[in-house]
Amino acid sequence: MMKNLVLVGFMGSGKTSAGQLAAQRLGMKFLDMDAMIERRHNQRISQIFEMRGEAFFRQQERALVRELASQQDRVIATGGGIVLDPNNLRDLGRLSVIICCWVDADVAYERTKDAKHRPLLGDETDRLPRLEALLRERESLYKAIPNRIDTSAMSVEQQADELVRIYRANL
Ligand code: S3P
Repeated sequence: MMKNLVLVGFMGSGKTSAGQLAAQRLGMKFLDMDAMIERRHNQRISQIFEMRGEAFFRQQERALVRELASQQDRVIATGGGIVLDPNNLRDLGRLSVIICCWVDADVAYERTKDAKHRPLLGDETDRLPRLEALLRERESLYKAIPNRIDTSAMSVEQQADELVRIYRANL
């Protein structure tokens, strides 16, 4: 059995795209927490936020962390807000190597500007300032994670290489 590789970071930090590629390279199964929550509720994340509220979504996220915390051999992409409850990183940390994928606000904006399913970013008009404010609010939480890479200038391939390298160095 191998430790999980858990990817944490803001929206647009490449958790899903580079995570999928890293999983392929490591021969491990890839799980995306947002996608799992969407499948279980048969609703997009944006609909869950709209119809049941953010607090409900955070409860689902917390419950899923507790489930996944006992699994192994997975590459897991978390949602950007996973750091808001410190219990999440504590639980996942037991059987996982956690890597934070940092991204600068302007790059996060470029990477997410066409996405329709990210409720916290709001509509097109005020996206950049909202994103900057949210990232600033969370910066200390992301930067408290010891394994951290700045993905701002990385391609998906470079990012996947770095993830694999750090994962192996932390086994
Ligand atoms: C969120 C990020 C999203 C999703 C939800 C909330 C956040 O995940 O979980 O919209 O609070 O940063 P991604 O980081 O995969 O976009």
